[in-house]
Amino acid sequence: MTTPTSPEWWRSAVIYQIYPRSFADANGDGLGDLPGITSRLESLSELGVDAIWLSPFMTSPQKDAGYDVADYCDVDPIFGTLDDFDTMTAQAHANNIRVIVDLVPNHSSDAHSWFQAALAAGPGSAERAHYMFRDGNGENGELPPNNWQSVFGGPAWTRTTNPDGTAGQWYLHLFDSSQPDFDWTNDEVRAMFRDVLRFWLDRGVDGFRVDVAHGMIKADGLPDYTPPAEGGSMGGTTPLGLEPGIDDFEDIDGGAPYWGQEGVHDIYRDWHRLLEEYEGDRVLCAEAWVDPLSKMAKWVRPDEMQQAFNFPYLETPWQASALRAVIDESLEAFSAVGAPSTWVLSNHDVVRHASRLALTAENPQGHGIGPKSPGQPIREVGLQRARAASALMLALPGGAYIYQGEELGLPEVIDLPDDARQDPTWFRTNGERYGRDGCRVPIPWEANAPAYGFNTTGAAWLPQPDDWAPYARDAQVGVDGSTLELYSSALRKRREHGLGLGSIEWIDGLGDDVIAFTNGAVSVIANAGSTDVQLPDSLAGAELILSSGAFDGSTLGADTTVWLRTA
Ligand code: GLC
Repeated sequence: MTTPTSPEWWRSAVIYQIYPRSFADANGDGLGDLPGITSRLESLSELGVDAIWLSPFMTSPQKDAGYDVADYCDVDPIFGTLDDFDTMTAQAHANNIRVIVDLVPNHSSDAHSWFQAALAAGPGSAERAHYMFRDGNGENGELPPNNWQSVFGGPAWTRTTNPDGTAGQWYLHLFDSSQPDFDWTNDEVRAMFRDVLRFWLDRGVDGFRVDVAHGMIKADGLPDYTPPAEGGSMGGTTPLGLEPGIDDFEDIDGGAPYWGQEGVHDIYRDWHRLLEEYEGDRVLCAEAWVDPLSKMAKWVRPDEMQQAFNFPYLETPWQASALRAVIDESLEAFSAVGAPSTWVLSNHDVVRHASRLALTAENPQGHGIGPKSPGQPIREVGLQRARAASALMLALPGGAYIYQGEELGLPEVIDLPDDARQDPTWFRTNGERYGRDGCRVPIPWEANAPAYGFNTTGAAWLPQPDDWAPYARDAQVGVDGSTLELYSSALRKRREHGLGLGSIEWIDGLGDDVIAFTNGAVSVIANAGSTDVQLPDSLAGAELILSSGAFDGSTLGADTTVWLRTA
């Protein structure tokens, strides 16, 4: 079994995503910070995670919650200082927890000094060549250079104003207008990011989660593109451009000219070599929303990245045959390139799975859910399914990511007041899409404390629901059957039984609603249906290792997963 110190530790690691603004707030201003993280590391050590990944905490105007970076080599004062970062890293390492930071290379903030210089220098300059500036179409350049749409809604181009007040060129932003895309064909951009990688590697980070790792290279000539109509298993386009349920994606039209272009792979080969210069098996993890999985596997070829989030798995409904199909496809696609799959069910961009898995109507992933969304989830059903889904995920061979709060069973906050919402998606679509704020609410630590122990002042940048006391960490720790105990025991048992490694063999014949497999001495059985399933004699009575819900040894209830010792 790999341990946090062994080589290739990432093959089976459980990595905990910290969303710094909502994790723990030491200075009480309502926004989480690095000292807050340091103060709570012990609880992550108790949970048993191998590493933490921190969403961006670098200098930023926070137009997209830090994914708009103005200085890649400094800490934003709202999160603390570089010293605070060093303290946190040292403390994490002392607890055997590795540290992965977020790298946002597709775009910077418009407040980045390079973009400001590009605006000032004017068309044709070396400064403009760092970004994607183009003349507009139409007689006076009044039309955008092409028809691309921003992931957050509205056009992907914004027109600039010249210093003399006349209308100027346009620049590309696949996301918010405050997030101009870099031109990755420019060697100076490549060199700058190599320096950024070294800056953090020298500070001791164990790796990078690479934001929009499928977006950095755009097709030559920037051809017009109209994405296929919305549809698919999760009912529409996914957070960041993956069109779900279209395995024939590449056959339709060759895919979007801004996602998954071949040229991105050169960049990762270069970074792979750079990371290899450092000791300690540092890693790159791709946020690459590409389909099918065989295409995604290109990001984790032996000379590229180590991990890529398995988003097709995240998007699979809680349904046995669909789950089995995506697991099969994942294991096949990733093992073909010698990589592990990296399982994930929640993150800061998607509806928390304790709510998502109980939605009864299609809500396009990435649009978020709010009071007017159809098919509102029943909370108890969602939690029961989420516990079963997590118990299934944590038994699969490969790496796994968990998102802060899922170990508490937190639901999506659906009824945030309109005036509290902050996601650029909400503003760019005039409230038509709720966006991602509902999964970003500060998490509860203490049932009876201001802001549930997020800080001591009670301030919170997004309002916390009144009924969250039962989810608080201190209300669950040591409590038999709590979601927190389910996660910590799953992590412990996973390690003990080597479930993150090995391989699985399907167990057939348990009915259409059951997905079951064996890995070594352990059998994992999940009932994704709505009625009890009677286990056959070969399984009934086996020693119980873990259960996501009530289990009497032979009858497996609806929405329940068990791990049994069968050898
Ligand atoms: C990534 C991040 C998301 C962000 C976007 C633009 O997908 O996960 O939160 O908005 O990139 O940087």
